[in-house]
Amino acid sequence: MTTDIVATLKEPRMIKICAPMVRYSKLQFRTLVRRYGCDICFTPMILADSFVRSLKARENEFTTHEEDKPLIVQFAAKTVNDFVGAAEMVAPYCNGVDLNCGCPQRWAMKEGYGADLLKKPELVRDLVHEIRNRIPRPFTVSVKIRLLKDIRQTIALCQVLEKAGASFLTVHARTPEMRNEPIDLDNLKLLRDYVQLPLVANGDVKSLENAEFLFKESRSEGVMSARGILTNPALFSGHSTTPLVCVQDWLNITSTIPTEFQCFHHHLVFMLEKILPKKDRVLFNNLQDKSSVLEFLENYYNIRPNIQHNSVQLTKCNFDMSYVQHRKRYINYWEDDSFSNFLGNIFDANS
Ligand SMILES: Cc1cc2nc3c(=O)[nH]c(=O)nc-3n(C[C@H](O)[C@H](O)[C@H](O)COP(=O)(O)O)c2cc1C
Repeated sequence: MTTDIVATLKEPRMIKICAPMVRYSKLQFRTLVRRYGCDICFTPMILADSFVRSLKARENEFTTHEEDKPLIVQFAAKTVNDFVGAAEMVAPYCNGVDLNCGCPQRWAMKEGYGADLLKKPELVRDLVHEIRNRIPRPFTVSVKIRLLKDIRQTIALCQVLEKAGASFLTVHARTPEMRNEPIDLDNLKLLRDYVQLPLVANGDVKSLENAEFLFKESRSEGVMSARGILTNPALFSGHSTTPLVCVQDWLNITSTIPTEFQCFHHHLVFMLEKILPKKDRVLFNNLQDKSSVLEFLENYYNIRPNIQHNSVQLTKCNFDMSYVQHRKRYINYWEDDSFSNFLGNIFDANS
């Protein structure tokens, strides 16, 4: 994959980005939003330590195909070994990796992931720097942050990341403590004055007009949408609600890429939220299997999967484990009992 994301972000236009969303920004959804003006997609956040250790995690968490680009794989990581190991494994199949420094959930903060990293600039610097040293450009290494209460600390963090070699930064313009209150546009604008790296602005983009407003006000290079694009995957192409042709596309895509019922149905629940009247929505949201969903859509909208071609060929990923295995050997070497006994003997002998 040779797509240059930084070059894309430097184009003189608003770059439209689908946010990382656990459970939702998977291959099927990325395929859909790319048809409606989305320039760059993020995977859901993947735990780097599970990814490097477990084949099952790799198979569950990461699927892609030839047309799934530009693609950024987002990781939750807190050690250089896990982040670099995971990044080297996915590098042949994506255009960059992103470090999640924004997740405010209690479990993540407790484990030292997500927004907890905002308070550890040296660690984030090392994580970014090591990727930059090991994987050449145009592969990107980016960081998605939230604002800190003290904007001076956010500016300092961004400047550290700039020096460490980050390719771009995404800023969700809320602090980890903020929930649904409006984004802090003033501090986002202030941050722009101090950061030269390409910036992606995120928060409350529910329509193309919102996106254009945020783009202009924040003087960012791109805008990212999460909840807005879930509810209306055609948002970036100017539709104010999900057009039926987009629902049709979803039926087609999920007929050619194997999709679990939950994922298939949840996305439709979001997409129809603004277009189905309440009483029909309750009925639709409670459907329990794919055939009932298809029957509902056929009766209600006269749409059904319309597949012109066979299943999409998923990319067969042969993950390169050499970095992980090398580190493991190194760690085993130092932790090996006979080796430490041997060291112990030397020191004993010398004492
Ligand atoms: C369902 C859901 C899942 C999310 N998962 C992630 C994630 O995996 N990684 C991440 O950095 N942010 C995640 N977020 C946060 C969004 O990427 C985004 O920063 C936030 O929702 C604000 O954007 P919005 O106002 O457009 O929704 C998630 C948000 C939602 C609603």
